[in-house]
Amino acid sequence: MIPTARSPFVKQFSPLQPAPIMDVCLSSEQQPGHLNEGPSTPDGWLEAKEEGVLHEDGTGGPPGESNKIEPSLQSLQKFVPTDYASYTQEHYLFAGKKIVIQESIESYGAVVWPGATALCQYLEEHTEELNLQDAKILEIGAGPGLVSIVASILGAQVTATDLPDVLGNLQYNLLKNTLKCTAHLPEVKELVWGEGLEQNFPKSSFYYDYVLASDVVYHHYFLDKLLTTMVYLCQPGTVLLWANKFRFSTDYEFLDKFKQVFDTTLLAEFPEASVKLFKGTLRWD
Ligand SMILES: C[S@@+](CC[C@H](N)C(=O)[O-])C[C@H]1O[C@@H](n2cnc3c(N)ncnc32)[C@H](O)[C@@H]1O
Repeated sequence: MIPTARSPFVKQFSPLQPAPIMDVCLSSEQQPGHLNEGPSTPDGWLEAKEEGVLHEDGTGGPPGESNKIEPSLQSLQKFVPTDYASYTQEHYLFAGKKIVIQESIESYGAVVWPGATALCQYLEEHTEELNLQDAKILEIGAGPGLVSIVASILGAQVTATDLPDVLGNLQYNLLKNTLKCTAHLPEVKELVWGEGLEQNFPKSSFYYDYVLASDVVYHHYFLDKLLTTMVYLCQPGTVLLWANKFRFSTDYEFLDKFKQVFDTTLLAEFPEASVKLFKGTLRWD
């Protein structure tokens, strides 16, 4: 099942048709020390032209000098392009920027879902109230990355997480849309719900102001692990923003369980897309 609700700014392009050059962060026209405009398929990946920029394998800096690249770029080195057979590009406009997302219908995690556009709309409309500038944010189930990109553009320090298979495409979209146009380059990290949380995200070193989640609740078998993960990532002061399209009775069952552990506020509803956006803060009583 592929989501249908789209941002009103979306234009669709056939995978066989080259997408027009957009005013995005990595546009070669605009950026000094630029990367080439990304390919419409990841076959060419990212081509480094100057020192200090990314190589095809996602590493930064000139060959043999990888120890000189920024730590945030180093954390991206291990990811390779996700090998989907076909791609399309979807265009969005949030926070005053055109955002190009490379999607594939071959994976749920490679398509922007309606909860993502709803959450982005909320973030851009409430940036100051949410105090997003320099805020530490982790997104779970980030998929193709739209929410993390918008949060980065709005000034936050973002870590986008998902299953290993979708990280290549996620990294591609993040870099294409944020490199050299955000205060903090977003990071990509594997996070499988309920797995290795203490090991990979020890509470002593990882604190988040916000945990973001869009359309992570649907018909899958990991809902309990998802809730465990949401709880684990929240410490005192952390706010969880969860946007979801509600379709199935199991979605409402999850919401009931969510409300048992989080003080929950319905922040916004998007009736055309059946999306609800909740704020949750962990109950400490
Ligand atoms: C429906 S997609 C939503 C993607 C994105 N948040 C959006 O709204 O466009 C669900 C996402 O959750 C991820 N996911 C599913 N099961 C997961 C698990 N067990 N651990 C981590 N991520 C998972 C998928 O890879 C996918 O990216």
